[in-house]
Amino acid sequence: MIKYLGSKRTLVPYISGIVQGLPDVRRVCDLFAGTTRIGQALKRCDRWVHSNDLATYSEVFGRTYIATDAESVNEGRLRRLLTELMALSPVHGYITETFCEESRYFQPFNGMKMDAIRAGIDVLAANETERAILLTSLIEAADRVDSTTGLQMAYLKRWSARSSNPLALRLPDLLPGSGMVTRIDANDLVRQMDDDIDLVYIDPPYNQHSYFSNYHIWETFVRNDAPPTYGIAKKREDCRTEKSAYNSKKQAGTVFADLLNAIRAPYLLVSFNSEGYFTRDEITAMLDGKGYVASVALDFKRYVGAQIGIFNPSGEKVGTVSHLRNHEHLFLVGPNRAHVEAALDATVERANTKHLALLAD
Ligand SMILES: C[S@@+](CC[C@H](N)C(=O)[O-])C[C@H]1O[C@@H](n2cnc3c(N)ncnc32)[C@H](O)[C@@H]1O
Repeated sequence: MIKYLGSKRTLVPYISGIVQGLPDVRRVCDLFAGTTRIGQALKRCDRWVHSNDLATYSEVFGRTYIATDAESVNEGRLRRLLTELMALSPVHGYITETFCEESRYFQPFNGMKMDAIRAGIDVLAANETERAILLTSLIEAADRVDSTTGLQMAYLKRWSARSSNPLALRLPDLLPGSGMVTRIDANDLVRQMDDDIDLVYIDPPYNQHSYFSNYHIWETFVRNDAPPTYGIAKKREDCRTEKSAYNSKKQAGTVFADLLNAIRAPYLLVSFNSEGYFTRDEITAMLDGKGYVASVALDFKRYVGAQIGIFNPSGEKVGTVSHLRNHEHLFLVGPNRAHVEAALDATVERANTKHLALLAD
């Protein structure tokens, strides 16, 4: 799975545990799905999942991992398509020029394979499902040979060791079962969502860091639109204008409160990072009136960029990182106090004590 800011990889066992501990929670919506890893974990627990995000790459991951039933695909054909794509002759195209020569996200020999494969996908894919699976394979392969710390607002001064490895497509690990995917603004979606959704998982952007501009290369891979770019990071020109209200300190409180108010599902599970715009008390207050609220704080290492340090464009260390750990807050809201407390308590009991070291009440 790709490197992703705010990805809830470490929270997966906690979130799966909570959902499994609640009675009658069969249908869930992952409203800000990103990599879709939470939706995947819930699909593995036999829950029906609706995956949503504004990003086109997240929609592609959702089609691959959530909406596709592994038992309905022709695995042999997919493997043949991946072999055909890997055999294509390298092409010097937009990806090589923009992300390997004008910037240094990938080594040019890999960029030329990516250009060839990206064009090949649109020729070989017989339908939207195949296209999504092949694109997921390409993005995951590119992520394994990139030269970043996991964000596409900058690249490393010297090539990362992994960038010298040859690009290799793998068949994504598809999951059995059904689900659905949408690409709609979360605040609009909650107003049109089916009434039979039992739980909504809410993991919005928590500060000014825009996902659209931090993962602009994956957007361009999916859209294949060769957009004009700006700056050293060669971001898509539309990164200047496409903004999520959740990234704006001024608007985030209003849109978040509006979102929570509009949700009709009986259970809400909210995760929020301690580096975000809201404090734990502010979120608890916003959830007031939605049901019984309980929360837990878990202690984790910050993302890898923070561990490495702060550098200027010439690669000199220019600052110190203020802290290397942060908290993930999980808020569970439901109609029945006993059910909410039992699900949270059981999860805390099973939790890794390392993460519980700074557990709040
Ligand atoms: C914190 S990340 C979610 C990470 C995800 N839970 C994971 O584990 O990969 C927030 C996500 O919200 C999406 N997003 C931002 N604004 C949105 C909006 N208004 N509606 C829906 N999705 C939005 C971003 O594209 C980003 O993927």
